[in-house]
Amino acid sequence: MKFSLFSDSESQKVIDLFGSVFSASEGEAEGQVISNFVSNLIATTKPQDLIGCIAEENEIIIGCIFFSRFKVPSGQVAFILSPVAVSTDVQGKGVGQKLIQYGLDHLRSLNVSLIFTYGDPRFYSKTGFENIREDIVKAPCLLSQPIGWLAQSLDGKKIHAMDGPTQCVKALHDPSLW
Ligand SMILES: CC(C)(COP(=O)(O)OP(=O)(O)OC[C@H]1O[C@@H](n2cnc3c(N)ncnc32)[C@H](O)[C@@H]1OP(=O)(O)O)[C@@H](O)C(=O)NCCC(=O)NCCS
Repeated sequence: MKFSLFSDSESQKVIDLFGSVFSASEGEAEGQVISNFVSNLIATTKPQDLIGCIAEENEIIIGCIFFSRFKVPSGQVAFILSPVAVSTDVQGKGVGQKLIQYGLDHLRSLNVSLIFTYGDPRFYSKTGFENIREDIVKAPCLLSQPIGWLAQSLDGKKIHAMDGPTQCVKALHDPSLW
């Protein structure tokens, strides 16, 4: 398996991957929502605010994740991990965890301090994420499942409570995704 950073020339393949993976796991409608979201994320986010990582096997993309910039009141450098997809036929073999680890190592090398995500804690806890209360760091939109608001520090420092609103990139600022 080979890991690398996403480049724009891979956009259509990656949009198709998210569409097919989420169609299979959540149904056609959700597949469409997520592929539209990824297409929008790539098209509307400034290059310095978006980092994608891909996993390939025999030159076929089998996994993809995106990190987008997240402004927090403390002024620390932060990103949100979303979305994440691994090809349906290779799920449950460690690809997702290895790809997230690759992405976190890359962000650490860029001196990113904080990473957030929103999803199933049973999966994301395997790569170091823990639930974070909204009185410590607010989510950018109203959360339908606050238990899924997760964070981790990449610089070894404890995450301190910070007062004030946070801001994600435009494509992620969609209440239906939260
Ligand atoms: C979720 C997903 C990215 C995980 O990637 P993966 O390569 O299948 O996962 P891995 O093999 O690295 O890790 C799976 C581990 O997490 C656990 N896990 C817990 N909750 C899970 C969940 N909701 N989905 C997948 N794995 C989950 C598994 O039991 C497994 O544990 P183990 O290693 O102790 O056996 C992938 O299954 C996927 O794309 N699913 C459909 C889309 C999706 O749900 N994306 C995430 C949105 S938050």
